Amino acid sequence: MTTSNLASEFTISRPRQYNRTSAVRWIWSHTAPYWWIIIIIFIGAAGNAGLAALMPVYIGQAFDAITAAVPQIERLLPLTLLIIGSQVVRAILQLGRNFGADLIAQKLERNIRDELYISLLGKSMTFHNIQPVGDTMARATNDVREINFMYSPGVNLVVGSFLFMVMPFLFAPQYHRDLLLVPTLFAITYFIALWEYLHSLSPVTDAVRNAFGKLNTRLAEALDGIETVKGAAQEEAEVSLFNKLALKMRDAFVKQGDLEARFIPMLLYGLAFGGGLLHALILYRQGEIQIGGVIAYVGLLEMLQFPTFASTFAYTQISLGMSSARRILELLNSETLLDQNADGYAELMRGEVCFRSTAFGYNPNESVLTDISFTVQPGQTVAIVGQTGAGKTSLVKLINRTYEATTGDVLVDGVNVRDWNLASLREQISIIEQDIFLFSSTIAENIAFGKPDATQEEIEMAAKAAQAHEFITSFTDGYQAEIGERGVTLSGGQRQRLALARAFLTDPRILVLDDSTSAIDSATEDHIQRAIAAAAKGRTTFLITHRLSQIRWADLIVVLKNGRIAAIGSHDELMKSSEAYRRIFSE
Ligand code: CTP
Ligand code: MG
Repeated sequence: MTTSNLASEFTISRPRQYNRTSAVRWIWSHTAPYWWIIIIIFIGAAGNAGLAALMPVYIGQAFDAITAAVPQIERLLPLTLLIIGSQVVRAILQLGRNFGADLIAQKLERNIRDELYISLLGKSMTFHNIQPVGDTMARATNDVREINFMYSPGVNLVVGSFLFMVMPFLFAPQYHRDLLLVPTLFAITYFIALWEYLHSLSPVTDAVRNAFGKLNTRLAEALDGIETVKGAAQEEAEVSLFNKLALKMRDAFVKQGDLEARFIPMLLYGLAFGGGLLHALILYRQGEIQIGGVIAYVGLLEMLQFPTFASTFAYTQISLGMSSARRILELLNSETLLDQNADGYAELMRGEVCFRSTAFGYNPNESVLTDISFTVQPGQTVAIVGQTGAGKTSLVKLINRTYEATTGDVLVDGVNVRDWNLASLREQISIIEQDIFLFSSTIAENIAFGKPDATQEEIEMAAKAAQAHEFITSFTDGYQAEIGERGVTLSGGQRQRLALARAFLTDPRILVLDDSTSAIDSATEDHIQRAIAAAAKGRTTFLITHRLSQIRWADLIVVLKNGRIAAIGSHDELMKSSEAYRRIFSE
């Protein structure tokens, strides 16, 4: 089996690799390892169909026994027992078929979720910035579910009903060879109609799945931005937007229903049944077959009902599953720019950072940073200042390769970040983001995020160093207090100190603090100041800040303007040499 050779920031070695070159091949490569379940399904389905066909055969024999010139009543009891026995066995086989289908459906769902999640974790920020979360969620949850449904009931019914259709071919010739005529005509027309149906169905099911993805994207964004929506009193506009998307989804479904309703085999079954009966009666009149043969044959024709009625539903399910498979595959196969570089440089970091004529842009034709060159010695503190949009956040994200420099180099300890083992590089650099993200779990778990095996003692020490212990213990549940939905919500300053505690715990060699929040009361400010000063000790620290007190004691100050270095040096140097810098301080 081949796999795609996409770069990935994160991989886990897995015993199984899947073929991602097309949706069918991908589904097959997921299915093939469970060949034994497929065999169970086939045995179950074949047995079920065969035993179902025995029923009309036995009934036909019973009719012949009664209508014979000398009625053979004694044959009726054994025939009845045979019918009962065969139908009991049939029920068991049916159970096997259903069980097998459900088992493989669940296994596939789990494996695909696994594959998708790992792949999403491995994709670059460039990918995640563009791909809407709601749509990804729709693919990772509902689309994966559709693949489950594709097997159970989808494939289950298709296999089951197909084998039902085979039975008249196996059993009818024993009465008369000509009785193959109607089943043959039926089968030919059925498969032509099915082919047409599947062709017109696949764009419709694609539309259904896409409409759902769009709906979900909007829902996720509206909920994520609920405060903005409410703040701007845009609830009504949101509702109408949502309605529009919901209508699109409904339309797609109606179209699917429309196709299902026009599926011709429904009509075909009626024709086959009537035509078959007529054919059998003619043969009976000609003395070619007996009345039991007519009865049995009609019973066999009745078996065509299963493929007829199951097919719209089952094939729609399969088509939806394939549409979903294509959507999942699209995510799996979408290009990502970075790779984890497993064999790369992975030493203990000293903390020297060097930018060499570095340039960067989020998209190729727009440059955010231009010609950045400076070096930071291990242990130094660098303040990065500049107006909003100047590129401060972008600059520090190049250090741990969240984004990759477009031209020029970024070196850590003299080694190009591209040559570092990505995990090793990122583990030793801690970036405290501008908007600090906390997971909805306890405070302790949030602090220990980068070091899940940290003890309670370590967590508390980190919290104390980050000046967070005090406010944490003021909550009733202390470190076990839940953050988010069911628990406490934190202020900006408190979030920041939790993030600092995270950093203390992982003890990174390079610490980046992206802190553009300036509106904090002086008591909190004092706390945060002390926490930052403690955090900066003994490691290279980048501070993005507007706080003059912090800027002043930095070893190096980089003034950014429109993505370029406008001035660089120590506070005293810059006060003398830079007009731009003096302006910051005179504000
Ligand atoms: N930008 C972008 N895509 C992103 C982030 C930023 O195109 N995902 C652009 C912004 O439009 C901006 C430029 O990159 O023009 C620099 O952004 P950033 O580095 O975030 O600026 P900061 O200096 O950090 O601004 P602030 O003080 O507001 O945080
Ligand atoms: Mg910023």
